Amino acid sequence: MAADHKTPLGGTRPEGVTNECEAASRVRDMFARIAPRYDFLNHLLSFSLDRLWRRRTAKHFLHILQRPDAQILDVCCGTGDLAFALDRTRSISVNSKPVVGADFVEPMLVRGREKASVGSHLVAFAAADALHLPFADATFDLLTTAFGFRNLASYEDGLREFSRVLKRGGELGILEFTEPASGVMAGVFRFYFKNILPRLGGAISGSSDAYKYLPTSVSKFPSPQELKVLMQQCGFTGVEIQSWNFGSVILHSARRI
Ligand SMILES: C[S@@+](CC[C@H](N)C(=O)[O-])C[C@H]1O[C@@H](n2cnc3c(N)ncnc32)[C@H](O)[C@@H]1O
Repeated sequence: MAADHKTPLGGTRPEGVTNECEAASRVRDMFARIAPRYDFLNHLLSFSLDRLWRRRTAKHFLHILQRPDAQILDVCCGTGDLAFALDRTRSISVNSKPVVGADFVEPMLVRGREKASVGSHLVAFAAADALHLPFADATFDLLTTAFGFRNLASYEDGLREFSRVLKRGGELGILEFTEPASGVMAGVFRFYFKNILPRLGGAISGSSDAYKYLPTSVSKFPSPQELKVLMQQCGFTGVEIQSWNFGSVILHSARRI
């Protein structure tokens, strides 16, 4: 298959991969392998800050989550931590529908379902590819994705698919890592992220390629401004950028036109 270049921003291309199909398959294999230790490593390697970033993301959309009838989709949900954070933050009535968590790696969904079965969560999991979501047009009021968007084989196709399943005026939140700008703490973080995290993650998960892929994919990911422009080109307006953790974690939020 020929290399594909839909937009200058493209999509993820793990080492040695030249097209969308192979990229998706490599990403899928990688996350299937690390699924059993995914939560443990997330909290360990981020010093549990990942929980705070997801909570902040949920709070950002409080105006939607306060509506018991709001329909919410978390794409690339992994084991469901953002879906659970959204569910904990929202107002529920007897008619509320579950927050839907969608991912294309079954072992991640299995873990998510196990977590959902403990305690009182209104969260449902669906096996789905973010680029071909099995939902009707204009279904959701809010679509979020945490640390997953970067892994899509086509960012443009992902955004157009998100726009399709969102209602007019529905909102999108993309939480991602980015290369931090300047500053001493940004430098410390960069050193940790590129040198320590891949070694620790590789040793504990037994999958060194997955934890090498993390900093490499972040360094190739569009800058916050580039992503903002792409979102605007793909049917979103009012794009806001929030920067956390010394500029290494970014929340893009926007409204579907
Ligand atoms: C880094 S994990 C993030 C999981 C979760 N959102 C979190 O915050 O912990 C990325 C997830 O994106 C999923 N993913 C990547 N590409 C996908 C795609 N095209 N469709 C659905 N899920 C995808 C992976 O299977 C993985 O579970």
